Amino acid sequence: MVDTRRLRFQRTYLHRQPLSAINTDIYDAEKSIYTKHIVDRYNVQTPLTMRAKNGAHISIAEAALVDFGALHLQLDPKTLKFKAFLIPTPDSLVKSVNTLPFHTPWRAILLSKDAAGILTNRLILNLNEPCKIADISWIKPMKYCGIWWEMHAGKSTWDYAGSQNGNNLAGLTPSGKHAATTANTKRYIDFAAKNGLGGVLVEGWNTGWEDWFGKQKEEVFDFTKPYPDYDIDELTRYAKEKGVQLIMHHETSAAVPSYERQMDAAYSYMNKYGFPAVKTGYVGKLIPRGEWHDGQWMVNHYVRVAERTAKYRVMLDAHEPVRPSGLHRTYPNWLACEAARGQEFNAWSKGNPPSHECTLPFTRILGGPMDYTPGIFQIEVNQFDQNKKERVHTTVAKQLALYVTLYSPLQMAADMPENYEKRPDVFQFIRDVPVDWDDTRVLNAAVGDYLTVARREKGKTNWFVGSITDETPRDFVLKLDFLDAGKTYEATVYEDGPGAHYETDPYPVNIRKVTVRRGDVLKLKLAASGGTAISVMAK
Ligand code: NOJ
Repeated sequence: MVDTRRLRFQRTYLHRQPLSAINTDIYDAEKSIYTKHIVDRYNVQTPLTMRAKNGAHISIAEAALVDFGALHLQLDPKTLKFKAFLIPTPDSLVKSVNTLPFHTPWRAILLSKDAAGILTNRLILNLNEPCKIADISWIKPMKYCGIWWEMHAGKSTWDYAGSQNGNNLAGLTPSGKHAATTANTKRYIDFAAKNGLGGVLVEGWNTGWEDWFGKQKEEVFDFTKPYPDYDIDELTRYAKEKGVQLIMHHETSAAVPSYERQMDAAYSYMNKYGFPAVKTGYVGKLIPRGEWHDGQWMVNHYVRVAERTAKYRVMLDAHEPVRPSGLHRTYPNWLACEAARGQEFNAWSKGNPPSHECTLPFTRILGGPMDYTPGIFQIEVNQFDQNKKERVHTTVAKQLALYVTLYSPLQMAADMPENYEKRPDVFQFIRDVPVDWDDTRVLNAAVGDYLTVARREKGKTNWFVGSITDETPRDFVLKLDFLDAGKTYEATVYEDGPGAHYETDPYPVNIRKVTVRRGDVLKLKLAASGGTAISVMAK
């Protein structure tokens, strides 16, 4: 049945527009999580990727952003010329305060005769300083699941005693909706162990969530104090027994000095319990008051966190930081960032339009891997509240393909175990897909429209293909000329099933197996905002 309450996107959300149509106000007006840079109708983020009439592509970018405000571009609507706009300090006349001698970040221009060439360009990464970490043996790509989407979808809460209850736990009674309990964490650990996922992220494990959202308050969170129903000793033991690693979560509520004061204690605590990775978060208006998420002070904070986590041999996944500029070359423990609209926006806002995932690789992801958190199977986010009309704006098959098209060495299987357990045949692709690669081929690409990528698994001869489209259904002919000559492979194709459409029926996934060799051809049929994911395993 067609859900007539579905949310529609205005044309202005689509990123294919002439320069004269730039209007970024719409993003700020729609839904805020108080993550702030300066929003101006004519200011655009970098990398800014443009297509000329002859098909050439140009991307204006920044690399090695350290000790400076982030580079935005401001359009003069009359002349259609851009000028550089640095995110300023709270005193908006001052852009940056530096001590001589100092280096500004790089300004880079990526040029290519087509869209695919922009994706294979490594200029931003290579303009960064070489690795500053002597021993990198502890830095390992990872697939993970976690206590996360269930809160965004409204099943449960981060807080223990109901939000707005203050952060003094004494006297608070549990609301019964807290997600990060010992029992629930064990459920996720079991699921990860059964399905070969290396990590389990747990959000809402520490005290403070009763008092966190939008208050611009200091000392809300304690990063070494679990809630009473989260038995960290037992969970560490249990995870170890099951061969799974726990990922810690540090929501700072953008109270950054409070976090800086606790960093050493927090990372020592992680070391004590053997947590290999931390996901940080900066939701809220910043403290120091007046600072911006993309300003010089915060840029330096993110680098301090990368350095400090490295000292403690902790891998980092930052949410709500400035968009990356290739610093993962210098600090390879900084595995991924969100730093753009991720999957979660689909749970509580109008969401990400079908063109969004077809745009990110050409813009935000040029600077570094994105923790987008793909893999939602329950597309309509009304499982726990029939009146909720938010939804993911893709088909299920497209969610699978994102594991290949959106590069990240840290990839989440973002949905809840109970939703995956309903569709084990479809989930098989997420079990199989790796997060580390030896080779990448861009098979077709058009910014904001479609993208097909093939990647070879690290150290193996298996290939994985992801193909995605925007709201336009498309047919592609895929020539398997990247496979090794003389080898036989089994391809498992996960494609949009009959009648699939992101708005009216996102769920059908057709799975077929084909024996293939180098040079064979596969025909792909992508639904509206659909996709195809293929595992090509050497026999
Ligand atoms: C925003 C983050 O991006 C999201 O992943 C997290 O669950 C919430 N903040 C709560 O910290």
